[in-house]
Amino acid sequence: MDPADFYTGIVADLYGPLKSFSQDPEPYAAFVRQAGAPALELGCGDGEPLLELRRRGLDVDGVDSSADMLVRLRRRADEQGIPVTVFHQRMEAMSLPRRYRAIYLAGPTFTLLPDDATALAALGRIRAHLAEGGTALVPLFTPAPTPAEQIGRVRTAAAPDGAELRISVVAEQRDETTRTQTTLLRYRTSFAVLRPSGRG
Ligand SMILES: C[S@@+](CC[C@H](N)C(=O)[O-])C[C@H]1O[C@@H](n2cnc3c(N)ncnc32)[C@H](O)[C@@H]1O
Repeated sequence: MDPADFYTGIVADLYGPLKSFSQDPEPYAAFVRQAGAPALELGCGDGEPLLELRRRGLDVDGVDSSADMLVRLRRRADEQGIPVTVFHQRMEAMSLPRRYRAIYLAGPTFTLLPDDATALAALGRIRAHLAEGGTALVPLFTPAPTPAEQIGRVRTAAAPDGAELRISVVAEQRDETTRTQTTLLRYRTSFAVLRPSGRG
């Protein structure tokens, strides 16, 4: 599956509760202060670190390919009273009305782009959205393979509605020639079944 479509439905539901770490907003806030506003966060998902930067008064818009993640971001923004402008688009094809002094991705999101052609297209769209003299921050990581002992191990969390959330890595393949890593994940939610008691 294309990672741009992956954060949908149950994956978006489980993303927040099962998140294993949170982005430190400070490096991105420092980048925006240095490079200038307006700024644009690509792959903003459900709002980290974008909402914290907005809370600090920075003029930052967001882009994400997942409508479901953006629903969650807007809900969190409403709850916190933070005005946001976010666009439902793919970064490799984005076409936005503003030009930005600073464009960044938080964490390893750029590595979600599935091949070199898509990555090159994304860099082209970033360039096209930079204001004169603007700066882009594109963190590049080589994701570590999932340790063998964690394949098949189930992580659980409780959803706000009481459902049990479960995620596990079922299998992983790494291809050094194409520099790709493909991970098969299993997501599950389960509810307790309550049976009415008494006669009848
Ligand atoms: C790992 S999540 C990170 C979300 C958020 N920055 C965080 O740290 O919680 C990656 C996000 O990138 C988005 N994404 C993946 N491919 C994308 C693409 N081609 N264009 C725009 N967004 C993309 C996904 O929908 C997802 O919300």
